[in-house]
Amino acid sequence: MRNEHQQGFATRQIHAGKEKNPKGALATPIYQTSTFEFDSVAHVGAFFAGEEQGYIYTRIGNPSLEAVEKKVASLECGQAAIATASGMGAISAALWTALSAGDEVVADETLYGCTFSLLAHQFGRFGINAAFLDFTNPENLKTALSEKTKVVYFETPCNPTLKIVDIKAIADIVHAYNPEIKVIVDNTFSSPYLQTPLTLGADVVVHSATKYLNGHGDVIAGFIVSDEDFIENCRGIGLKDLTGAVMSPFNAFLIERGLKTLDLRMERHCSNAEKLADYLRAHPAVTRVYYPGFEDFPGHEIAKKQMRRFGGMIAVEFAMSREDTAAAIDKLELCTLAVSLGDAETLVEQPATMTHNSYSAEELKAAGIPESLVRISVGLEDAEDIIADFDRALPK
Ligand SMILES: Cc1ncc(COP(=O)(O)O)c(C=O)c1O
Repeated sequence: MRNEHQQGFATRQIHAGKEKNPKGALATPIYQTSTFEFDSVAHVGAFFAGEEQGYIYTRIGNPSLEAVEKKVASLECGQAAIATASGMGAISAALWTALSAGDEVVADETLYGCTFSLLAHQFGRFGINAAFLDFTNPENLKTALSEKTKVVYFETPCNPTLKIVDIKAIADIVHAYNPEIKVIVDNTFSSPYLQTPLTLGADVVVHSATKYLNGHGDVIAGFIVSDEDFIENCRGIGLKDLTGAVMSPFNAFLIERGLKTLDLRMERHCSNAEKLADYLRAHPAVTRVYYPGFEDFPGHEIAKKQMRRFGGMIAVEFAMSREDTAAAIDKLELCTLAVSLGDAETLVEQPATMTHNSYSAEELKAAGIPESLVRISVGLEDAEDIIADFDRALPK
């Protein structure tokens, strides 16, 4: 049999991390337990000293979580992964692990609303400074890095404008300045099927597994993927002591199940997004479609280089006020007005009002997020039905 490193993505999404269990169950059992029984007090000491393998308490480790952690690490081409209770749980555990008072994070200015809020509005209380700039010009980083910089953080494609950041160019500049700086990439919008930042020089990948990784809209979950040392620190410090935001074994089971079809789902998301983007671009009520698959989209060439396809996310600006735009999307019937993304259902939302309402009007402007922008997570329905829904709802 080919070893895991030789196997293709589809094989790994099904088999990686799986262990033959004593009762022979094909699916990983849900170890729905908070604690684990020891044989003797002597064993307890050995476990805590790391001299013996085993489980102590689910906040520190659990076989259901371990199976899905190994699978995600394999798909992201990382040495190790840790499962968390949410995407924000992953982001905060990774950042709290890497940062101390007096340190600085340099981040791209277009980020998921709560990540932006953590960096821009909360970290200051703990003596951590965040500087924001536009990463589409990697040269900008050269003047922004300092000896205080411990983390460089970005998303690509960015939420919600699909802005593309060149992962390798950023990682090269940062590591040439100081190889100790952690380059952290939120890979939620791509999933590892489309893009693996660790193979392009990033140090850490974070995920909201609530989205494509799980893919079925029924869990809140996250992951951190990196080298073994950083993950051990996240497990022993970021997760165990600082956030406590551990994934539940039942959610690990659901995500492991969802991951078995990740490539098939991503292919359909990408194909449907391509068709909807083409339809919307030709619609008279639309002024701009943000979609990395368009040749004239800034960053298209970089996306082509670092992504397998262009993803399932689109953003649209209409030739209408924010209110009229909201009224038009209210008329959608098949497509659902909801935050979140990466589900089977097509989800539509207005970032300025919903996912990015933690940005002030000035911050939205600086991040290039128009107030009337609509974000679409293109689902797995028949593309013709999604298009028909927009065709009925949009003014002619
Ligand atoms: C890009 C991105 N990162 C992180 C998060 C946070 O994930 P969660 O909602 O699972 O905490 C989200 C949520 O929408 C997101 O879109």
